[in-house]
Amino acid sequence: MVMSASPLLVTCGLPYTNGPCHLGHLRTYVPADFYVRYMRRSGEDVVFICGSDNHGTPVVVSAEEKKISPRVLCEQYHHHFKKTFERMDVRFDHFGMTDDPTNHKRTQAIVRRLIENGHVYSQIIKQAFCPQCNRFLPDRYLEGTCPHCHKPARGDECDQGCGKHLEPGEIQDPTCTICGTRAEFREQEHFFFRLSAFDTFLDSFLSGLQGTENARNYARGWVKEGLHDWCITRTLEWGVSFPGHDDLVVYVWVDAPTGYIAFTEEWAEKNGRDWRDLWCPETSRVTHFIGGDITYHHCVFWPALLQGAGYHPPHAVVASGMLKIDDHKFSKSRGYVVWTNEDYLDRGLPSDYLRYYLLAYTSHTKELNFSWRLFQERINNEVVNTLGNFVYRTLHFAYKEFGGVPEGLVSTDIIETIRACIRDVDTAVTAYEFKAAVDIVIKLAAYGNNYIQTRAPWKQIKDDREEAEQTILDCLQIAQALAILTEPVMPVSAQAIWTMIGNRENLAGVSFSYADQPIQARKFDKPAIIFVKLEDDLIGNLEKELEERIQMLNKESCNSSLVSIEDFAKIELKTGRVIAAEPIPKSKKLLRLQVDLGCETRQIVSGIAKWYTPDELIGTDVIVIANLQPATLCGVESRGMVLAAGEEASLLIPKKSVPPGTKIL
Ligand code: MF3
Ligand code: ZN
Repeated sequence: MVMSASPLLVTCGLPYTNGPCHLGHLRTYVPADFYVRYMRRSGEDVVFICGSDNHGTPVVVSAEEKKISPRVLCEQYHHHFKKTFERMDVRFDHFGMTDDPTNHKRTQAIVRRLIENGHVYSQIIKQAFCPQCNRFLPDRYLEGTCPHCHKPARGDECDQGCGKHLEPGEIQDPTCTICGTRAEFREQEHFFFRLSAFDTFLDSFLSGLQGTENARNYARGWVKEGLHDWCITRTLEWGVSFPGHDDLVVYVWVDAPTGYIAFTEEWAEKNGRDWRDLWCPETSRVTHFIGGDITYHHCVFWPALLQGAGYHPPHAVVASGMLKIDDHKFSKSRGYVVWTNEDYLDRGLPSDYLRYYLLAYTSHTKELNFSWRLFQERINNEVVNTLGNFVYRTLHFAYKEFGGVPEGLVSTDIIETIRACIRDVDTAVTAYEFKAAVDIVIKLAAYGNNYIQTRAPWKQIKDDREEAEQTILDCLQIAQALAILTEPVMPVSAQAIWTMIGNRENLAGVSFSYADQPIQARKFDKPAIIFVKLEDDLIGNLEKELEERIQMLNKESCNSSLVSIEDFAKIELKTGRVIAAEPIPKSKKLLRLQVDLGCETRQIVSGIAKWYTPDELIGTDVIVIANLQPATLCGVESRGMVLAAGEEASLLIPKKSVPPGTKIL
């Protein structure tokens, strides 16, 4: 590692305080913790900061459901996350809350500076409003269709489709999440951050941005596509007040990343340091670890905010790839989730194993698949059989024959092998290739295994005690290096190995450069087995539980909320014959149909243009919901709905011909 005068500040994306910790979170936090431990052991001055993200509509919506105040909900989950990270040995120097006063102050200071510097303007915009709930519907209070990819989306983000950020008013077919009523639009004054003016800045910022390539490349693409100004105010009571406008709060994506600064301030205050040393100098190295889904916020929006307010933009953004469970897209509602406490730690499974899997499964930026079987396989093969086996055989033999580490000179090629390993690991970590780094360490263990196996000191000792002594000394040197090198991955086990080899001082204070220093003779106690195999029974049970959960949730969604026959009878279903069909100029999806319902002809807009040509539809008998409230789609009125099944909109049609307008019972 190249030393630098400024301390390294590492942050992790702040978890929202509206639900428990799961593997998706850990996919970012564990590698960040690995990186911090690694950099410290390389001699860097590192500060590791995180906290909980308390504002925004997800939190208010959850608190409302639970009938508690948002603050209480936040405190509950704040403590939950803090404890969970400790259990996972993810050790932040400070874990703050975005709702604490430091962050309110820092956010307002930043917003004021943005206003002073002319980067904020006001505009009257049409805001979604629910006439039923009688309130404005910011962000998650709103559901509808993404205008870009036409997948279901939330008010501020296309969370199931293309992932784009959506501005107020952009979402199509908006309905209120709380009561399902179709939203109206009302005019209101809001404030915008002139993000579009930062394209030149962002271009040059991105070309110097360190971190992983995925983050940089996506962000470059977005800047090239053109930037939109961001509305940075919301009509909400929960949040940081927008300076000068008590009825508005700042958009959560302004005050959340500002938490990174505020938490540094809180940490500095407690530790007699100055937060500016970490954020302000040209040489400052603020490194954000984030989930790939929030790249836009960290590589485009946040740097522009910082620049606009006169702060130094970040040094690096390290974005992790997606998480899959059993090869399925991670989904809490569909049961494809592993909860950190309930499903893992509370079963007595070691944090080290999960850390290992998360780091070693694949490259940090790639898709990580978790399954209990794969987990078992990787742990048993790599951690138990390769690393654990080597360390135990070595220590066991050394203890039995020599009572510890014998006197002698470690072979130079062993020292060289360790040195090369340290060098390669360093290259990998510098490139944020954590998997590669872990693999190199495991390869050293495999080398050790091979070394002890081919030399067979248990045979050597029969004719030549000195030869056996040399072999075991070499192996002990490797074991000691492995304790140091595996610490960032598996801190608990590494400390245990370290202590077993008879080291007194804490492993925390030992640097990598110690790994190739000749191991000193000493006595140690009878070694214990550190890495225990994951048994088939246990894994089988865990697999079964996950399957059952998925099945149960799928069943629930099959017979979700039963309706009475009376309710069903309210829906008027009829057959109708398509007598005219034409495309709608502005839409690729929609067709304008004229449908003969026997007693009348109805205009119905239907999203089937991708699957049917107007010509082939004419004369087709279709099933129509005849008493649906009228709606306007792409400026065309639609009075009813044509039924179709599945992704490719297969039209439902009567099997035997019936006259138009036949009632369906
Ligand atoms: N809470 C956000 C999320 O889970 C992340 C916030 S990161 C910060 O997507 F930069 F805003 F702090
Ligand atoms: Zn989309």
